[in-house]
Amino acid sequence: MDTQNLSYALVQLAHNFGAVAVTGGAVAGWLAQRSDALPPSALVWLVLAGWIVQTASGAGFGLISLAYYGQFPDLHGVAVAALVVKLSCATAALILSMLLLKFAGAWSAARRCNAWSLLVGLAATALSAAAFLRWFA
Ligand code: HEM
Repeated sequence: MDTQNLSYALVQLAHNFGAVAVTGGAVAGWLAQRSDALPPSALVWLVLAGWIVQTASGAGFGLISLAYYGQFPDLHGVAVAALVVKLSCATAALILSMLLLKFAGAWSAARRCNAWSLLVGLAATALSAAAFLRWFA
């Protein structure tokens, strides 16, 4: 079996499940918060873990390219912009989910609702950027 393809497939597998966790987890948290309930902290952990997996597996794509071709993928234009969008979303979402984990209990319902809305927006933006990165890379 081609080890390069296998490496890409395994990293993509983690990346796909990470995408489901950050998007589905945020939507579930947002829906729970809309009824004024405090979403279970397991949901925040799921979203945080999802963003960690996305960042690590995203870097994994670059490392595989480095290992097999001696260089990172040659990206330019729209693909670079899409990657910057993804990295910005990941940074913001990692910080926000850690804040939510630590302070959600002390925040007002309105502030928590805003935080969950933002997490949904960041996941949707990163997911949209993925389409542009895929086809402009
Ligand atoms: C945090 C940093 C991230 C990095 C560095 C990153 C990097 C990458 C790279 C290099 C690819 C392969 C592109 C290609 O096929 O040529 C990819 C694919 C993909 N990424 Fe990310 N990504 C990140 C975050 C995310 C997030 C947060 C999501 C979703 C919420 C996401 C969803 C996807 C999807 C769905 C694909 C597959 C696209 C396709 O083949 O159609 N990524 N990502």
